[in-house]
Amino acid sequence: MALWSGRFEEGVDEFTQRFGASLPVDKAMYAQDIQGSRAHAHMLAAQGVISDQDAEQIDEGLRGILADIEAGSFTFSIDDEDIHMSIEKELTKRIGAAGARLHTGRSRNDQVATDDRLLVKHLAAMLLKQNVSLRSALCTAAEKYPDVILPGYTHMQHAQPVLLSHHIMAYFWMFTRDFARLKYAIQGADECPLGSAALAGTTYPLDRRATATELGFSGVTANSLDAVSDRDFMLDLNYACSVSMIHLSRLCEEIVLWSTSEFGYITLSDSYSTGSSIMPQKKNPDFAELTRGKTGRVVGDLVALLVTMKSLPLAYNKDMQEDKEGTLDAVHTLHDCMVCAQGMIETLTVNEDAMAASAQKGYMAATDVADYLAKKGMPFRQAHKIVGELVLLCEKRGCDLDDLSLDDFKQASDLFESDITKSLDLPSIVAARTTEGGTGQTAVKAQMQRAHTILDKDRGQLA
Ligand code: ARG
Repeated sequence: MALWSGRFEEGVDEFTQRFGASLPVDKAMYAQDIQGSRAHAHMLAAQGVISDQDAEQIDEGLRGILADIEAGSFTFSIDDEDIHMSIEKELTKRIGAAGARLHTGRSRNDQVATDDRLLVKHLAAMLLKQNVSLRSALCTAAEKYPDVILPGYTHMQHAQPVLLSHHIMAYFWMFTRDFARLKYAIQGADECPLGSAALAGTTYPLDRRATATELGFSGVTANSLDAVSDRDFMLDLNYACSVSMIHLSRLCEEIVLWSTSEFGYITLSDSYSTGSSIMPQKKNPDFAELTRGKTGRVVGDLVALLVTMKSLPLAYNKDMQEDKEGTLDAVHTLHDCMVCAQGMIETLTVNEDAMAASAQKGYMAATDVADYLAKKGMPFRQAHKIVGELVLLCEKRGCDLDDLSLDDFKQASDLFESDITKSLDLPSIVAARTTEGGTGQTAVKAQMQRAHTILDKDRGQLA
């Protein structure tokens, strides 16, 4: 019998009961549900709505249920609609009338909104931890290769040489922004809806702030209708997960690309590769590909929740029960993908020679040769054209810019002197990019310092 069966003459249909149930998904938030109920009971007693004795029995009963669930000895009944009903029913079975008083001044609508918020705070805190761990691994990897140069690309074409450390740190900053997005989701979840009841508040003299404080919320929601209808904080968490997965997918795409025979920039460790069932020579970057693939799922979770929430009238609607499955999926998927990416980064081998050889191709000194002329007074547009013609000459001869003689250069412009060699040398080209945020060693050193300061601060914010 459902706890709400009073006004019904017939029992529920077996199929619709199962169809409407959220227990298989929301049993994941048993701890939040019990925490919320305990705080509610404490407050009811402090306000004289229930007796201290009832509150004590409720508290003890709920602690017992928590221990049983954690020990794996609690049997969830398939007849229960959701985690809230399941726990309340068991509590009443164990302690009788006191258990039946727990739901005074409360509805499942403010209860589930509270549980959702506690869950989001808990899940986001777990992601923050792994985010910091991944970023720390990126810093370590960057610092391992302070002088390794590889081609920087635009349009997947060789553009200008960059330091590998700089390239790796680009990802550090993406994940740093993800950290801020996760914190934002926590902030959005940080008000307690309890006391909003079904939708309109309640006639009992509840102390909403006491419950909120006990549950670790910084405040209480301002409007009971909004409080039971709001899932923005879940959208925020899903969005943070999606963006972070997109960053991981970009990283993994480069890992896949860089481990091809064509690039050969990196070799993945055996523990992050798989073989083929037919081709004995194969070493496939499966886990990088899988992470790239799982991005679709997480973005799907976000879109699903957005569409679920679209056009919902106030206040609670059963549609909103769909909020948890995708959110849990997105969070656990992102978590595991971050663990995987960190492992890949920590164990891969960098093939410096392949990067260096590739960096020699593609006229990557061209911008610096044009800058050489511009710094001698030639308008940059004119310098650009002259160097473009020199590149064309190289193409015809099948050579690179540093194979041209000083005479070749002088024929193009008499501003060229023998010191042009410096503008053709990749390490000098890289080192000269000293602007803040640039790829020169001095700039990257400053960047690393900035990264460590932020990382230390973020690490200090972890629960
Ligand atoms: N299982 C429901 C959910 O997750 C709990 C709230 C149900 N409230 C209601 N009025 N049916 O949304």
